[in-house]
Amino acid sequence: MEKMPYRQELDTHVFQEPIAPIVSTDWQDGLPVLSGKMVTLRELRPSDAQSLFALLTTEEVSRFISPPPSTVEGFESFIAWTLRQRTAGKYVCFAVTLKRFDTAIGIFQLREAEPGFGTAEWGFAIGSAFWGTGVFQEGAELVLAFAFETLDVHRLEARAAVLNGRGNGALLKVGAVQEAMLRRSFRCNGEYLDQVLYVIIEDDWTASREVCRQIRAYVH
Ligand SMILES: CC(C)(COP(=O)(O)OP(=O)(O)OC[C@H]1O[C@@H](n2cnc3c(N)ncnc32)[C@H](O)[C@@H]1OP(=O)(O)O)[C@@H](O)C(=O)NCCC(=O)NCCS
Repeated sequence: MEKMPYRQELDTHVFQEPIAPIVSTDWQDGLPVLSGKMVTLRELRPSDAQSLFALLTTEEVSRFISPPPSTVEGFESFIAWTLRQRTAGKYVCFAVTLKRFDTAIGIFQLREAEPGFGTAEWGFAIGSAFWGTGVFQEGAELVLAFAFETLDVHRLEARAAVLNGRGNGALLKVGAVQEAMLRRSFRCNGEYLDQVLYVIIEDDWTASREVCRQIRAYVH
């Protein structure tokens, strides 16, 4: 997801009654903590605003995503919005932290593209000091398991600007398949860029997990 669906200027704090009744599930009440060997994903907190502002507003991180909030207060509003959207069952955002450190160094977002999360879109941004360290890969694996097993996503989409080499490389290495070229679909710094539409289908993810499981069993 190149674009954070959050827009500060549209954040009116007005609570809207849902059109369809919301079926409450555990994740709508609060996100689980997802733990890997190196990375822990957890719910965002207001206190994450400072580190996310410092790490996600740099030129290299924000170059190919829609502009993140431009102040710490803007990130505080964004975090409050993520919690409201999660309660409404439309969107979730995990903070990325390193094991034994509580500082948020990035985010993974999941947004429903149809009611009920059958089709969803995901996006991610991590502070550049942590690029190429395995943080993305492990975080992505945790988020994919959450998407397919807990949210019951069956089709997970992502968009990456063609010029975003790391974004494309990251998606390919977690098994996303290039499905289409979205020509001139992303407005970035006053020009329209081409994006690639990447998709992971639940069946493909399940099959690749089984292959990994069998390889691990064979190696050990
Ligand atoms: C996207 C992001 C989270 C990925 O995290 P990361 O730590 O950089 O990802 P990784 O290093 O694990 O994977 C990137 C892969 O792309 C490869 N890559 C790097 N530059 C590349 C390029 N120009 N062209 C193709 N592949 C490239 C890397 O070699 C790596 O693959 P490898 O591990 O097999 O060598 C991070 O780069 C980021 O936050 N970017 C800014 C935000 C952003 O653009 N988000 C939207 C993405 S669609």
